[in-house]
Amino acid sequence: MAPVIRPRRLRTTQAMRRLVAQNTIRSADLVLPMFVADGIDDPRPIESMPGVVQHTLDSLRKAADEAVRAGVGGLMLFGVPDAGDKDAVGSGADDPDGILNRGLRVLADDLGDSTVLMADTCLDEFTDHGHCGVLSDDGRVDNDATLDRYVSMSLAQARAGAQLLGPSGMMDGQVAAIRAALDAEGLTDTGILAYSAKYASAFYGPFREAVGSSLAGDRRTYQQDGSNRTEALREVRLDLDEGADIVMVKPAMSYLDIVRDVAEISDVPVAAYQISGEYSMITAAAERGWIDRDAAILESLTSIKRAGASIILTYWAAEVAAALA
Ligand code: PBG
Repeated sequence: MAPVIRPRRLRTTQAMRRLVAQNTIRSADLVLPMFVADGIDDPRPIESMPGVVQHTLDSLRKAADEAVRAGVGGLMLFGVPDAGDKDAVGSGADDPDGILNRGLRVLADDLGDSTVLMADTCLDEFTDHGHCGVLSDDGRVDNDATLDRYVSMSLAQARAGAQLLGPSGMMDGQVAAIRAALDAEGLTDTGILAYSAKYASAFYGPFREAVGSSLAGDRRTYQQDGSNRTEALREVRLDLDEGADIVMVKPAMSYLDIVRDVAEISDVPVAAYQISGEYSMITAAAERGWIDRDAAILESLTSIKRAGASIILTYWAAEVAAALA
């Protein structure tokens, strides 16, 4: 009888498993998304994301400093304006005194080149209708009119100190428009982390609370349909041609096959976003004692890395980076 072939030999001890581990998380892989809100005196907890808050400018500075000390690879900032300051075109987005640009400025001043400061380049937090772009008369999101707004927003964010801009609205041509505008203004060192393959997802639910979203409908006319695989490659190729410095897939968990597909064709780094719903599900199950929280977090992050992302946006970035140190 043929001898038994024994793969289990490489699993016998923790030291052996460590020796042969192919995919491990580094602190620098992890980017922490953060929310800064206008008009609040104390950090405001986000109920559906226990442990995540909307920051004041002061608490933002402190938490960002802690995250950078813990070793995270970067910070991704979202702004939450006062509900009364929202309007149809999202004027707060490109106002240098809008909350997101103020947040970027204080973090850029505090942190300098010790981290990579990123900004969400999208209108949805700033529009009263909650869409990622401006609307045409028939109520649909107007792609090309939105590009003009993204350009203006991008220049404001770059001038406020963002080193990477994250256009997340899935408008056609957004990377090319932003790249051309940055270059024309001499902002050639400002990079673009393109949300290239972003799917319409039920798992964004808790984020809508996180940013106090006003959205009534959905984003299915601009975000991708979860039925489709090759469309993601088309989107990524376009963004690469348009000058994206990093391409991203979002969400992560339900789209790990897409992360792998993209990793196979991309010659720039690939990022994936472990979104709010992914955070909330693990948090909720762990609160009930149904899963081992820390093990589930590490397993989820490792699966994203194994799928092919070298950069992971996760609300656990600071905690995991500290634990890895
Ligand atoms: C749009 C944007 C969204 C997220 C990041 N950027 C929301 C959406 O597309 O509806 C979601 C992040 C998350 O769910 O954690 N500005």
